[in-house]
Amino acid sequence: MRPTLSHNLSRCFPSADVPWHAMGDCWPGVGDGKILRALDDGSVRSALVRLQPGQTSAPADAVAATIQGFVLSGSVTLGEIALTDGGFFVVPTGASMPAIASNLGAELVVIFDDQKTAKNSSTQLVIHKSAYDDVEPIVPVIDGTPLKGFARRVLWEDPETGADTRLLTVPGGFEGKGPNWHPVHEEIFCLEGDIGPDDTRLMTPGTYLHNPAYGVHGYHEHSKDGATILEWHDGLWEINFTS
Ligand SMILES: [Fe+2]
Repeated sequence: MRPTLSHNLSRCFPSADVPWHAMGDCWPGVGDGKILRALDDGSVRSALVRLQPGQTSAPADAVAATIQGFVLSGSVTLGEIALTDGGFFVVPTGASMPAIASNLGAELVVIFDDQKTAKNSSTQLVIHKSAYDDVEPIVPVIDGTPLKGFARRVLWEDPETGADTRLLTVPGGFEGKGPNWHPVHEEIFCLEGDIGPDDTRLMTPGTYLHNPAYGVHGYHEHSKDGATILEWHDGLWEINFTS
């Protein structure tokens, strides 16, 4: 049966427009963050998090739900492991979370799974010192057609739910195939370049986009000079075009 689709519910905004908030409730010891998306109960799903120079987050014996982090700028140490920009980590539900420290300060995109639905995971801590270097890119194939000039790096997949997080590089001159939807929530943070979901909005570095599950979007996806984005989903992603 065809699901009920919604239209024009995507939210797209520059993270520069979001105020900084104290983040201690969801990540003890971390100073402040900009909430990109909150769930209906107010819990934070995704945020831009800022570690001040010299700041250290509290370690945790067992996290209540999976936490992912992608380093945008600066550097952090996760336990003993140093990560600079492009570094990525996943602490799965039930795994221990090392302290995260930053000598000189850092900004990260942090993604929190919903604690209400989290189940203990069989997976362990995942760390990519450089997601660009550590993860082989693949050329995505949509409807049997390889997308020339694209590079998709799947940084992590949740074996229980099919949720994943990707780095996607889009070539200059990209024009999408038209309006589409997914059965899962899709969130995107622009890291480099320019990419527009439609003719009214343009994403540049620091812009965030949320496409709700079963929400039609991508009315005119396009990029003039190419872009690299971080993209994450809360379940198994598939693309469905409306025509
Ligand atoms: Fe999409």
